[in-house]
Amino acid sequence: MEDAGSDFIRVGMLGDLRDRGHMVIGTPSGAVLIIADGDDILALDNRCPHMGFPLHRGSIQDGILTCHWHHARFDVRSGSTFDLWADDVPLRAVRVVDGEVWVAATPAPRDEAAHWQRRLHDGLAHNISLVIGKAVLGAIAAGVPPMEIVRDALLYGATHRERWGAGLTTLTALADILPVLDADDRYLALFHGIAAVADDCEGQPPRIDTEPLGADVSFDTLARWFRHWVRVRHRTGAERTLRTALVAGATPQWLAAVTLTAVTDRYFADGGHALDFLDKAFAAIDLVGWQHANALLPSVVPVLTAALGREEMDSWRHPVDLVALAERALRGVAELLRAARTLRGSWREHAVLGRAVLGDDPEVVLQALLDALQEGASSADVARSVALAAALRIAHFGTSNDHSDWDSAHHTFSYANAAFGLIMRATGDGADVEIEALCVRAAFHGALAVYLDRYLNVPPARLPLGDLRAHTPAKLRRRFLDACDRQHQVAEAARIVASHLAAGHQPADFIAVLGHALLREDAGFHMVQNLQAGVRQYLAWQGDPEAAPILIAAARYLAAHSPTPRTRHQTAQVARRLMRGGAVHEDASEAEF
Ligand code: FES
Repeated sequence: MEDAGSDFIRVGMLGDLRDRGHMVIGTPSGAVLIIADGDDILALDNRCPHMGFPLHRGSIQDGILTCHWHHARFDVRSGSTFDLWADDVPLRAVRVVDGEVWVAATPAPRDEAAHWQRRLHDGLAHNISLVIGKAVLGAIAAGVPPMEIVRDALLYGATHRERWGAGLTTLTALADILPVLDADDRYLALFHGIAAVADDCEGQPPRIDTEPLGADVSFDTLARWFRHWVRVRHRTGAERTLRTALVAGATPQWLAAVTLTAVTDRYFADGGHALDFLDKAFAAIDLVGWQHANALLPSVVPVLTAALGREEMDSWRHPVDLVALAERALRGVAELLRAARTLRGSWREHAVLGRAVLGDDPEVVLQALLDALQEGASSADVARSVALAAALRIAHFGTSNDHSDWDSAHHTFSYANAAFGLIMRATGDGADVEIEALCVRAAFHGALAVYLDRYLNVPPARLPLGDLRAHTPAKLRRRFLDACDRQHQVAEAARIVASHLAAGHQPADFIAVLGHALLREDAGFHMVQNLQAGVRQYLAWQGDPEAAPILIAAARYLAAHSPTPRTRHQTAQVARRLMRGGAVHEDASEAEF
């Protein structure tokens, strides 16, 4: 008798199969459903690709197999699904030899990386978070580097939405903190970030690109034009100017200086979001490579041209005209920077200046910034101090405030963090004093936002000293996660992080705990921004104990917004379980997510 081959497994007699309609056999790579449909004999994995339900418990009509759990439908001849929230069912080769049916021991080989990258695109296009979760896991298992997955999602988000938004910001912030997360949490970070992009793009018109200008224009002229177009809200003018600079080979430093100057021509534009989005767009390009700058950076232009400055708002004009004060203070900054050049590199008063920024008199605050510049502080030094002050507002945030006020403090911290990042980019490698004087405005505006938030610290919450008794990092981790399982645990969260630091444990361990706690929640983009800003600012202090309040602030904000229903985390864990081959349908009521 002829054999079907060693990599085929015998199913049974063809006549029996036709009588019964279908059979199921076990193979080393999972159960297989063999179907007699008309004249055809077909074999598919018996596991519904949606959530693992056995497909032999479904039904077939007119060549369409319907799974009987959530009713995903499949073409039995190709395995392709009609419902994109499911997935295609892998087919098996079938042979009929001497009246016997044989089926391949393994599914037909496929390019796993290409398959899961295509599925990631499906998940993004149709905003299906389970598909996104499975695609991320599948791509990682197929060896696709995480930053390649981030790149695909960023490019999708930048082209399937008119402008940079919260989704791209969330993904960038999470990708930025990937290295400080536990290895197990990196999948969750990618999942949450990409799902946020899908949410943001759903129902949005795609982006329509503009072309660069058709002639050579000097960089000085392009810088001047870009600033002008942003100021007069001419979106395509600004976009074409920026594209021309990109095509002409503008450096990242030049791009940062010009865009930062344009966005700070308005005060604290869009409550700080415009500058923060700009910073994230640069961070995104850093993460995925500057060859993608032309696809990513122009998407932030509509944000800049549409943003409303706080100089148009009463709170920045009355009872104290903060804009007039700032304009006066900034008038002599270029001269000051020029005179203090020889002192550069020796200034170390970041913490002192940070606390001075918390003062009650805006003129005194602005003078403290000017004094620091005069003593040799760089614009980035000043921005770091302002970011510390903004973090201190959160660290001292009184819990008797309205809950929504957390976001006022958060917006300022997020802005200050972004200002620090952009100023570093624009001036870190040395910059003309006139340019640096324009860039440092972001820090001055941030300091005024910190001043306006002063009521959030009345009365101020005390910074905890920490419990010096020996608690292991594991015990403190458990305590922190338990605290985030309950409401109103802001003070406890602060005590735990203070105890971790007081005990001399590695800050990196606690940063990973914060990341883990965040990724369990249905974290909106503010929660994600807050942690990313906290991590970035804390790391900028390179272990200086003065930076401890930054981690305390991050922990307090996180605890104040926890717990959430954690629905997205459940989807992420279902995807993880399915990709490990688990059968969710067997114990859905008591699954240990
Ligand atoms: S449709 Fe098959 S498991 Fe959901």
